[in-house]
Amino acid sequence: MKVLIVGGGGREHALAWRLSRSKKVKKLFAAPGNPGITEIGTCVDILATDIQGLARFAEEKKIDLTVVGPEVPLALGIADEFERRGLRIFGPNKNASRIEADKAFARDFMHRFGIPAPKFQIYDTIHAALKYTKTINKYPVVVKASGLAGGKGAIIVNTRKEYEKTVDELLVQHRLGEAGNTIVVEEFLIGQECSVFVLTDGIRLTYLPSSQDHKKLHDRNRGPNTGGMGAYAPYPTNRRVSNIIENVIMQPTVLSLRDQGIDYKGVLYAGLILTSLGPKVLEYNCRFGDPEAQVILPIIDGDLVDALCAVADGKLGDIEIKAKNQWSICVVLTSGGYPFDYPVGEEIQLKEKLSAKTLLFQAGTRKEDSKLVTASGRVLNVVYTHENLKIAKQKVYEEIKKIYFKGMYYRKDIGNSGMKKMKRKRRR
Ligand code: GLY
Repeated sequence: MKVLIVGGGGREHALAWRLSRSKKVKKLFAAPGNPGITEIGTCVDILATDIQGLARFAEEKKIDLTVVGPEVPLALGIADEFERRGLRIFGPNKNASRIEADKAFARDFMHRFGIPAPKFQIYDTIHAALKYTKTINKYPVVVKASGLAGGKGAIIVNTRKEYEKTVDELLVQHRLGEAGNTIVVEEFLIGQECSVFVLTDGIRLTYLPSSQDHKKLHDRNRGPNTGGMGAYAPYPTNRRVSNIIENVIMQPTVLSLRDQGIDYKGVLYAGLILTSLGPKVLEYNCRFGDPEAQVILPIIDGDLVDALCAVADGKLGDIEIKAKNQWSICVVLTSGGYPFDYPVGEEIQLKEKLSAKTLLFQAGTRKEDSKLVTASGRVLNVVYTHENLKIAKQKVYEEIKKIYFKGMYYRKDIGNSGMKKMKRKRRR
């Protein structure tokens, strides 16, 4: 089989690595890919947003399966174009991608179908958004741009003044462009975050291990929001919570989408907050999480290619994905200064060879002559898997010490919440 991966970050490197392990995959391409992916496949210079270019390439090379990493090509309708041309693609169509690309639509959908979610209001005029100020009696609240905003669309506001400034920036000054023409104002949820993933052909659901992302820059969830500083999997939930997630959130989501005439084929990612009143949906995404994919893909058994083809063909049947009895931790190494201004072009050096068990996924790198240098805020993803979470954590941080680039920064507490949970469970 020939497989094309669309995208070029750590998630796509992890997908490329996982798919390249299948005996069925004879040739792997990535567009645009990254220097890490060139070690296992061929990177082609086509942007992930160039839908026509990608479709032409897939036709020319007779690609058997295209797997889409990021949300933007999905929201632009890459699946619709591929399907129109008879090309097999893994990822929902434009209409189904609204579950992520149109947050007002997603909130309204959750409300109509009784999916547990925070209280919310939707506004598209400054007048209405400001009128609402008078009724907010508890801060913080979350103001979200309804459209895709590259991870910058959710703003936590702590005071009335901040609220008025934020809604003005979005609705009047159009700081996030069209993405902020409609906003969703939401209750701020308190609890642990949990990312849940299912593969679905629109009817059946196959669960992947769930995970916890760490979005804040600093340890103990402090500092500004980022695209994700690390993750671990599986996220340990008890039977009661798992039941709610499956029977009150995931299954009803897929079936209600179908009920609305929305044919959702791909991976459905629900970002949940486990509140004291039970799990609630913070957001839906129409793709794999980043950095969650980097921890989930190494701990699943079986041939992922079969599962992705079955989803794309709408025939998931009883394909089951078994999780290995392993923990997986990913730590994201970032450029100093990220998520604000940061330098790029810093040489990445390996002071010592990494252990054969370590996975190193490249996220924001480029080749300069023969050197590997930093090219973005999130640079490298270091992943270690082990049957013992404590050892996985110890090892991943030992491995990181072998890597150096000027300004390199990372969180030191990835996996801690899992260890605390396991300790509490043992005590019970
Ligand atoms: N882990 C956050 C995201 O992929 O959106």
